[in-house]
Amino acid sequence: MTNQYPVTRNPTYDFSGQSYANSYPNLHKYPATMIPQIGIELFKELNISGGKLLDPYCGSGSSFIVGLDRGLEEMYGVDFNPLAILICQAKFTKIPIPLLYEARQKLNLALFDGFEHKDKVKPVNKPNFYHIDFWFSPEVTEQLAVLKHCILDLATSPAVKNFLRVPFSETVRECSYTRNNEFKLYRMKAEERLIFRPDVLSLFWEKLSQAIKIYETYYYPKLTNARLTLSDQFRPPRNDYDVVLTSPPYGDSKTTVAYGQFSLLSNEWLGFPKARHVDQTLMGGKTVAALYETGLIKEDILEIFKQSKKRALEVSSFYFDLARSIAQVANCLKVGGKAIYVVGNRCVKDRQLPTDQFIAEQFEAHGFRHVFTYERVLGNKSMPLLNSPSNQTGNRKRTMTQEFIVVCEKVR
Ligand SMILES: C[S@@+](CC[C@H](N)C(=O)[O-])C[C@H]1O[C@@H](n2cnc3c(N)ncnc32)[C@H](O)[C@@H]1O
Repeated sequence: MTNQYPVTRNPTYDFSGQSYANSYPNLHKYPATMIPQIGIELFKELNISGGKLLDPYCGSGSSFIVGLDRGLEEMYGVDFNPLAILICQAKFTKIPIPLLYEARQKLNLALFDGFEHKDKVKPVNKPNFYHIDFWFSPEVTEQLAVLKHCILDLATSPAVKNFLRVPFSETVRECSYTRNNEFKLYRMKAEERLIFRPDVLSLFWEKLSQAIKIYETYYYPKLTNARLTLSDQFRPPRNDYDVVLTSPPYGDSKTTVAYGQFSLLSNEWLGFPKARHVDQTLMGGKTVAALYETGLIKEDILEIFKQSKKRALEVSSFYFDLARSIAQVANCLKVGGKAIYVVGNRCVKDRQLPTDQFIAEQFEAHGFRHVFTYERVLGNKSMPLLNSPSNQTGNRKRTMTQEFIVVCEKVR
């Protein structure tokens, strides 16, 4: 099928050999991050150097790095995954560095009491979420519980506590029985679990020191007076934003990147309600009963339907949600404002779905004009390069090797 919205291959945006870590190492591992270099270059090309930015799927916040770099004054981020919001809060809240070192020292003393003088500290509540013993040994659970207790009990500001929860979350993940090189939750084999004896405290201490160093070196110096609002619900004001910069999910969490699964154990330990249900709330998380049968995506959905009704409905639910979300986002931009979506076109049943075309089409239906779509070759996105398009274990296939940068402008 020929593209209705032209696509131009633009190697400027490949940033080959560069990664997120090149300029802004992340404070916490997160799936499918966008490298900020893309946004910085785009803002230069589009002459964006002030105003208000919205990211409706902000993840760990690469678009805010772009906003800070390019002098934006106000930013608003939404993500339905509470771990994503926590990471952004830690990275983009200005905390005087001495406060972090002071908190580290206080925490050290509190941990000493927590482990060596148990009688001196308040009783520690052990969390009891579903399947906790499946994912953590009793020793690890006990140590994590003391660590969490000491963090929550520390006499320091809420911003510092939030910061400490980030290395805590990384420690949770690394001390669990999950195979750490996967975004989905897979449990180690019995023989691996037998010899898995993580040292919770040392690991946390290492993560904390590293987080302070990264924050001090890469984030703190860039934190301006720009105001950042973060929310786990979509409530930004209408007609208020100059630019939307975002990298939406490529598909539903079940068959593409499982943000909720990746974050599940952290979200549970951090006490976020509905931790188990994050993936259902994300785009395409609730399967619909009808096919998405309008516009440019219709033909692909009908072809998938011929092979599998279930897959066609799953894919439809993603596009219904994406269409609904674009309608909301479109409302929030001012006339003249730009919507920039960095997205991949995933394959389902051997069909590459034209999500870039879908996005341009949806914006056009809401008073926008398509400005350009660039194609970039994907080298660095931290996401699995293999997936199982048929959802059968063992039937793995190479996923996208390119991404699309779709830019639309609000004209009425
Ligand atoms: C590709 S990631 C964004 C990555 C981000 N640019 C970064 O650098 O970390 C997509 C994000 O969208 C979030 N998400 C998925 N569906 C959503 C929805 N309906 N509303 C808000 N956020 C959603 C996911 O939790 C995930 O964090």
